[in-house]
This record gives sequence, structure tokens and C-alpha cells, in this order.
Amino acid sequence: MDMFRIQGGTRLRGDIKVSGSKNASLPIIAACLLTNETITLHDVPDLADIRHTLKLMESLGATVSRKGNALKIQVKDESNSVAEYELVRKMRASICVLGPLLAKRRQCKVSMPGGCAIGDRPVDLHLKGMEDLGAKIHLKNGYVVGDCGRLQGDELFLGGAFGSTVLGTANVMSAATLASGTTVIHSAACEPEIVDLGNFLNNMGAKITGHGSPCVTIVGVKSLSGTTHTVMPDRIEAGTFMVAAAITNGDLNILNCPTSSLMAVIDRLKRIGVDIENIGDDAVRVSAARRLNPVDLTTQPFPGFPTDLQAQLMTLLCLADGNSIITEKIFPDRFMHIAELNRMGARLRKEGPTVIVEGVRELYGAPIMASDLRASAALILGGMAATGQTDVLRVYHIDRGYEHIEKKLNAVGAQIERLSE
Ligand code: EPZ
Repeated sequence: MDMFRIQGGTRLRGDIKVSGSKNASLPIIAACLLTNETITLHDVPDLADIRHTLKLMESLGATVSRKGNALKIQVKDESNSVAEYELVRKMRASICVLGPLLAKRRQCKVSMPGGCAIGDRPVDLHLKGMEDLGAKIHLKNGYVVGDCGRLQGDELFLGGAFGSTVLGTANVMSAATLASGTTVIHSAACEPEIVDLGNFLNNMGAKITGHGSPCVTIVGVKSLSGTTHTVMPDRIEAGTFMVAAAITNGDLNILNCPTSSLMAVIDRLKRIGVDIENIGDDAVRVSAARRLNPVDLTTQPFPGFPTDLQAQLMTLLCLADGNSIITEKIFPDRFMHIAELNRMGARLRKEGPTVIVEGVRELYGAPIMASDLRASAALILGGMAATGQTDVLRVYHIDRGYEHIEKKLNAVGAQIERLSE
């Protein structure tokens, strides 16, 4: 297993480029199951999660080739519709194949994803959505088993106790493209990744309107065709780089930055005292002085503050001049980073889904353990800001979602070494 050894205290300066979005790529790749024609995707990051998804696609009869960040995918054999536990357990987003398999092959057997470090993560809304479209679903031996005739469009509500579901919306939206009649999804997720998926499906010949709003309408078509699509930039990677500039008292030009998808984050960062300036259509300059103001923030579905940047902002607020309050409304247990940050000298106290962040003057280097993808990013940020040396163990979590993270950060002044544990 790899670890990162970080020498803290260097200021980041220069240009850093955001990769294509992992979370947009995953449902888009799964949606390639909806056609037998060739799909070309540009800007697909080379990440462990993407590689797992491509393996799953191959097991479901797709041929896949990659040249740099471009992928060609074509489904040639539809005889296997089983997404095995061995592949699904490595990555929850494998559930994205459920809707496309049912819509195109009218049957599927998909291993139920388990929980993960950020919480229980049920898939009840995905299953309800498929049933609303006419699929018969039952659970057997840890698998979701489904079959159907042609799916039937319906008017359905997809909200749950924690609001909308991103991948649930992706599944239902993808499945409904090939249904007979019209589907209306109420309480649909509005995340930019859903907009990207909707645009991709429309390029394939789907008839989707309203994607990006809570009410999405899909008029079913008989078949979809091949297309070429460029995946949107990764807003969470971009937000992580913004925090990296701020926490190192640095000055970064973030290129290929999806600024309009990050307004809630930019709002909080500006209140903290971070300077953010547009320097082009898709580029921002981010810099910060030493003094950081405390703020309160609450994670919410888009356009609210994203849960995927909660841990990174928490690390930044550890160094603010006063107390901040962070409330997690999407995954109330997504706080594995607290104990590790406290080991670096942070003062964090959890009260249910809320964390009180008492600002400290300094973080100190320490050996710490990554527990999930975004917590790992938060710990790397902590290590770059800390005095002395930080060893972050189990960095395979970060390799799931950040492309060449240490190379990108080292190119703008970080000192991060990848070692074997
Ligand atoms: C997506 O997960 C992202 N993953 C997550 O990013 C992200 O944290 C999450 O959306 C929220 O923005 C991908 O896009 C691959 P949800 P998803 O369904 O779709 C509850 C990362 O670090 N819920 O929107 O699985 C759920 O428990 C990852 O890149 C149900 O109750 O999340 C949560 O409280 C981690 N029943 C809320 O809804 C369901 O059937 C939102 O989850 C589904 C979800």
C-alpha cells in the first residue's frame, strides 16, 4: 500500500489544471449500455474508480479502449447482465448499471452495494424508481434481481429523507430514455453531473428536458445511437485546489475550473477571506492572506454546499481566527477525518451531525490514516499547511478520485512523496 510523506509549510503558486469529473464520468460510462453503437468520451480521468467501472462494463459485454483521457466504448455482447459482487464491492457507483441494463436488456442482476466509510448509503430510491417504471425487482442472496418488458414512462417522486439522490436520478433518467411514453421525475437531483449526463443522453438521441431542475421530463424513444462527448471538469477537485491555495497562503490559477458549479463554495471561501478572481471563462485565481475568518456552513444538495468538500473546508477552518460550525445534512456520519485532524493539533468537537471547529494557530505534522476519498484530500491539505512532516497512510482512497494528485500539487510547490507503507 502507498503512503504520502508531506513536508508542510510550502506556499503553492502557479497554474494547476482540473481534470474531467469522476462523478460525471461514472453514470455516463454506465449509460453506454443503452446502445450498441460506439461512444467516444473525452476528458475521462484515469482513476481507480473509473478503471473498476470499465472492468464492470467489460464483464457486461462492452469493448473498451483508452488513449490518454479519451475512451471508446461499444457494447457487442448482451448475453451477461450480472454485475458481480467482486466488481461492485470495490465501488458503490456500480449501481449505475441498474437502469441502463433494465431499459436495454430488460433484465439484470446487480450486487447490492454495501455501506462505506461515509455511512449506510441505501439504494431504496433507485429500486423504487425502477419499480415506478414497471420493473419487477426483488432481492436475492445480496443481489438486486430485476426484469421487465419495455419500461413504461410514469410520473414519479424520487425524494428521500435526505433530499434528492444523485445516482438514483441518473439511474431513472437513463432508464426512462428507452421507456414507452413520458416520465416525469419530481425531486430530481439538480447536480451539474446530472446535467452532463442529460446532455450526453440527448446527444445519443434521448429527449430529456428540465435536467438541472428538480423536475425532469423524459420522452421515451425506441433506440439511442453512438455519440462523442466531453465530460465536464471535476468541481470537487477544483474546490479542493481552491482550499489548497487558501490553506498554504498561496496563489493559484485554477484552469478548466467549473466556476458556476461552485458558487456555494466560492461564497463560503470569500467569507473566510480568500480572494477569488475570474481570469477567463473557465479559470480563477485564488489567493489568501494569513488571516482566515471563521464561518458556518451546512452541506446540502446542489446548489447548496457539497458534502464532497465538507472535509476539505473543515481543514481550512481549523486555522481560522475563531470558531466555526459545520453541519452535514447529506451523510450525517461523514466525519472520519475529525480524529485524524485532532491528531494534528486541530480542535474539533462533534455533536450529532454538527462539528464545532475551534480555530488554532498551527497544525503539526503527524502520522495519520486516510479513511475515504474526501477525508484523504482533507488530510493532505492539513499536511501541506502543517509544521513539519506528515505521513498519510492508505492513500489508495485518494487514488480513487484525484488524478495524479501529488504530481499536480508538487508542480505548484508542494512537497509530497509517494512511498510504500
Ligand atoms: C453521489 O453519491 C456521489 N457519488 C457522492 O460522491 C456524493 O457525496 C453524493 O452523490 C452526494 O452529493 C457519485 O456521484 C459517484 P445520493 P450518491 O444518492 O448518488 C440518501 C465522492 O466522494 N439515499 O445523492 O450515492 C443517501 O444515504 C462520492 O465522490 C437514500 O436514502 O448519493 C444520502 O443521505 C462519495 N436512498 C442522500 O440520499 C437512496 O436510494 C444523498 O445520496 C439513495 C440515497
